[in-house]
Amino acid sequence: MQTIRTVAELRQAVIQTRRPNKRGGFAPTMGYLHEGHRALIEASRAQCDVNVVSIFVNPIQFGPNEDLGTYPRDFLRDEQLCQDTGVGILFAPGTTEIYPAGFETFVEPGEIAKPLCGAFRPGHFGGVATVVCKLFNMVQPDVAFFGQKDFQQCAVVRRMTVDLDLPIKIITIPTVREADGLALSSRNRYLSQQERQRALAVSRGLFAAAEKFQAGERDVGRLLAIAKQHLTAVDRLEYLDLVDCGDLKPADSPLRSTALLCVAAYVGSTRLIDNIIMPLPT
Ligand code: PAF
Repeated sequence: MQTIRTVAELRQAVIQTRRPNKRGGFAPTMGYLHEGHRALIEASRAQCDVNVVSIFVNPIQFGPNEDLGTYPRDFLRDEQLCQDTGVGILFAPGTTEIYPAGFETFVEPGEIAKPLCGAFRPGHFGGVATVVCKLFNMVQPDVAFFGQKDFQQCAVVRRMTVDLDLPIKIITIPTVREADGLALSSRNRYLSQQERQRALAVSRGLFAAAEKFQAGERDVGRLLAIAKQHLTAVDRLEYLDLVDCGDLKPADSPLRSTALLCVAAYVGSTRLIDNIIMPLPT
């Protein structure tokens, strides 16, 4: 595995590894890698010939009062995980490599970025789209892998690749969970033992509603109410919504097409997000 710090070296490595009929896979991350990231890398390895992972804590996707300063980092452990999972190139640039002095051009996503997390984190998806667009231009993958936990991020990136004619297939990999249901996230590390226990309310709420859905419940209000019963254990519920999986607008009741039940909540000072798909033929 090559660990690369600069865009110039990355471009060289990409040129050297690109061959006709070889697929390039890419998993962009912010590091502090966990089993969810491992699943992205494994999917990339299964589907592609050349596999690139990036680790970059992107400052422009954090709001002024968010956790940029404390975002967990452990580069040596991450590098080892990449090595062990068969990554070919690990790209780990510094901030000024991605945003040199004078940088002033941004990608601005449209409607897809407005509801859910977009409503509570102004500018977040603009920051994500900008860095992902830049990374795509640097890595030039054929396929890029993102986790379903960040469902809206996947939707924003997918929309961007269509709108900006980026010839990259976006693949969403199912959320990886702890045995008790907690969705894996680098931010879980912020949780105390007691908070970790209360954080289970998030996945339990989703699972309880999904169970009712599987039993035939299609009423949006009733499905949301079931999830909400569990969510009384969190400190602050930011949103709990059932939305159309395609445009992320509120789902019609009764449900007629595949919907996404999604939640963002604070436990202590940790913001957690999670979601579950309620599949229906369109
Ligand atoms: O999901 C993440 O870790 C980040 O939002 C991403 C896609 C690497 C962009 O910084």
